[in-house]
Amino acid sequence: MTEKSVPKVFLGGDHAGLELRKALREVLVWMGREVEDLGTHETRSVDYPDFAIAVGERVGRGEGIGILVCGTGIGVDIVANKMPGVRAARCTEPYSARMSRAHNDANVLCLGARVTGIGLAEEILKAWLDTPFEGGRHRQRVEKIRALDEKRRG
Ligand code: RB5
Repeated sequence: MTEKSVPKVFLGGDHAGLELRKALREVLVWMGREVEDLGTHETRSVDYPDFAIAVGERVGRGEGIGILVCGTGIGVDIVANKMPGVRAARCTEPYSARMSRAHNDANVLCLGARVTGIGLAEEILKAWLDTPFEGGRHRQRVEKIRALDEKRRG
């Protein structure tokens, strides 16, 4: 995945995030984005790490970017940030979403369905997708995160 190509979007999350994730999937499809939803597809209670890991693996391999939704956005964020190659950002407003792209080159956006309503979540999503990585002085910082990943990969 190069910085200029339009990356595929991997979606994932638990039962608490299901409705919001479905709504965001529709927005992404409407935008013409290539989307793969890795579940959960059920309303029964499931464990958010399973879905954050599934998305994190694909993103960590450089196959695309990710959107994770759970109740608060916290659980999926914690898990995703343990996956090598993933820079996940939990955002509750568009400013942080823009900065997470511009300064941190975040490749996973985490949202909390019990925190953020659909209208705001859509704005956050659009801000996140529309903002490129600024590079410059931020590149050396992201390189340090990458170096940490390499160490953890062993
Ligand atoms: C599920 O009840 C809830 O704990 C989960 O969606 C998430 O908010 C965890 O961080």
